[in-house]
Amino acid sequence: MSDLGDDELRALDSLVDEALGSGREELLPTLGYGEISLVLGWPQEAPRYACKRMPAFPSQAAFESYARTLGDYVAALGAAGMDVVPTEMRGVDQLAGSVVGYVVQPILAADTLAPPILHAADPGDGHPLVDAIVAAAAGTVSPRIGLDAQLSNWTWDDGRLTYLDVSTPMLWDEAGVSRLDLEPLAQAYPAILRPLLRRFVAPRILDGYRDLRGVYLDLCGNLLKERLDLWLGAFLAAIAPRLTQPLTAEDVHRYYRSDARLWAVLLRLRRLDRAWRLRTGRTYPFLLPGPIER
Ligand SMILES: Nc1ncnc2c1ncn2[C@@H]1O[C@H](COP(=O)(O)OP(=O)(O)O)[C@@H](O)[C@H]1O
Ligand SMILES: [Mg+2]
Repeated sequence: MSDLGDDELRALDSLVDEALGSGREELLPTLGYGEISLVLGWPQEAPRYACKRMPAFPSQAAFESYARTLGDYVAALGAAGMDVVPTEMRGVDQLAGSVVGYVVQPILAADTLAPPILHAADPGDGHPLVDAIVAAAAGTVSPRIGLDAQLSNWTWDDGRLTYLDVSTPMLWDEAGVSRLDLEPLAQAYPAILRPLLRRFVAPRILDGYRDLRGVYLDLCGNLLKERLDLWLGAFLAAIAPRLTQPLTAEDVHRYYRSDARLWAVLLRLRRLDRAWRLRTGRTYPFLLPGPIER
């Protein structure tokens, strides 16, 4: 699908390894970061692809299973009528038999990302992407399909809304079991906490993304983080006819405070684990987002 060669991808992975080993992650060609990881622009001289480094999978089988879930997720979003950025999951084999995954997408122009568009627009005039995002979420979210509808996950180009954040595929089977392999994600946290994260924390977070009200709360709360508070009214108005019990600005502020706390704690735990592993002579094999203002 993409014309990014295996050698080019391996070169990127070596650079990431080097940066992780030396702690000089600021040298990487970063395009952006979310709560989970860094997105890198590659090849460095003339970036064509956004490459999102996934945690290492312990085996080829685990990698393939994740790639299948990712493919099914993109297909499910498409079937629900959503435009999704073309996405490919690629692997880089490691000596130990593990596979590092990269989610590869064409690079989208920075000025088509939803946050800068709203920053440049006047809340008094409104913007069609507000209704488009609210409608796309309503058409997609179900007990079997989760969606992270935060602004930073959308592009708006020539009146067309496209979704880009598919690397954490949120699908549930008919028995209600999540198909997301949490193991690679859990590896970023201190070992002693992993069972707790897998059993209690992660399911609660994921459930919020398959409930339309939860998705809207998260989308609105994120406006505060993006310093787009002035757009909250427009979103709440667009959301009102879609929920039996409307969301209020107070609901959003309350949610934002607890959500920000949760993610801050999770990031602190990852930094702690990184410090511990570096101190004990190991590498911490994950790229962490830089300081996040909340
Ligand atoms: N294909 C892309 N082109 C340009 N920028 C991108 C692309 N994919 C992601 N980004 C940037 O990186 C950020 C994080 O990517 P995302 O896929 O949402 O990861 P996360 O799961 O960590 O939120 C995006 O909000 C955007 O700013
Ligand atoms: Mg995102």
